[in-house]
Amino acid sequence: MHVAIVGAGALGLAYGVWGAGHCDVSFVVRRNAPRGGVRVEQVGRTKERAREVRQLASVRASTEVAPEADVIVVTVRADQLASALASLATGSGAASDAPVVVLTPMMPAAYLKARALLGNRLRAAMPGVVAYLAETGADGGAERGSGDLRVRAWFPAAAPTFIDELRGTADQQTTLAALAETWSAAGLATRFAMGVHEINPATTAAFIPLTMAVDVAGSLDALVADAALLDLAVRAADEGLALGARLGQVAPWAALMTRLARPSLIKLGVAVARRSAAEACGYVDGHFGRKLHAQNVAMATELVELAKERGEAHAALEELRARLASISS
Ligand SMILES: NC(=O)c1ccc[n+]([C@@H]2O[C@H](COP(=O)([O-])OP(=O)(O)OC[C@H]3O[C@@H](n4cnc5c(N)ncnc54)[C@H](OP(=O)(O)O)[C@@H]3O)[C@@H](O)[C@H]2O)c1
Repeated sequence: MHVAIVGAGALGLAYGVWGAGHCDVSFVVRRNAPRGGVRVEQVGRTKERAREVRQLASVRASTEVAPEADVIVVTVRADQLASALASLATGSGAASDAPVVVLTPMMPAAYLKARALLGNRLRAAMPGVVAYLAETGADGGAERGSGDLRVRAWFPAAAPTFIDELRGTADQQTTLAALAETWSAAGLATRFAMGVHEINPATTAAFIPLTMAVDVAGSLDALVADAALLDLAVRAADEGLALGARLGQVAPWAALMTRLARPSLIKLGVAVARRSAAEACGYVDGHFGRKLHAQNVAMATELVELAKERGEAHAALEELRARLASISS
């Protein structure tokens, strides 16, 4: 099986490298293809130790999908999705029929656009991996592409990767079943479930206001030090949870996290996490606090529009959207 991964960022590299012993893997990039190897470290008890390391000495990457790809896995950010999918829809060769598994969260409008472009080749999915790019370059180079890349990743046993269970052609079904089997054998537990294209946006709507507030603040510590912003985050999360419940089934962990998210508990949680899970806090600061700013702005706008459409409360979501939009990325 040949898996072509669109986007050689944190998530794409983690899936690609972890699965590589069980299938052929290539990456589709826009620019800055990794020139060296990639090392993925499964986060262990300390930042210096890894539970397991897998690496590729070199990475096959191109601006086109490899013609022999059986399946295409998309891992770009939500604000980059439309252009990435448009190029897949117009591609040629055997890969132009290949199923497209999208790990990027898609809000309903984005999903409908993607369906219009790709038809039943499209499968919404929910990642079961959390990953970030650590410092770049065994040679100390700070530039992407100057040396080996290092990715730190969590593979939570309780959270498999979910792929939408939809009817497709017999070939598509066979290919997707083979992907799930291949990834699972590689330690990336993968399951099919009904309604993933609804569960993903529902879950995202429920928890993302909290992470958007980290973006506005700049870090978790800055968020807990800002009482007014913390209050806004909690009110926006309540609105996000109510909206999420209209979009689909909110994953239980997200519903619980949002219900428990009150200012005093968030402060306590961050204080405890800084001591016991410092690397996870660093991930939240870097991933949600800076990297996903453009995605956060786009998603906040979509959440507000959806809440208006569905007649759900959105005053706090609107305030959060305006705060995000006022920050230059
Ligand atoms: N990382 C996680 O732990 C995690 C977990 C769950 C869900 N997600 C979601 O997964 C998505 C990706 O996250 P990430 O952390 O992997 O982001 P990332 O590190 O920024 O990776 C995205 C990659 O896609 C590339 N890209 C953008 N447009 C492209 C195109 N048209 N063709 C080929 N490559 C393209 C980007 O290149 P440039 O650098 O040139 O823009 C970047 O390398 C986000 O929506 C995120 O919310 C991530």
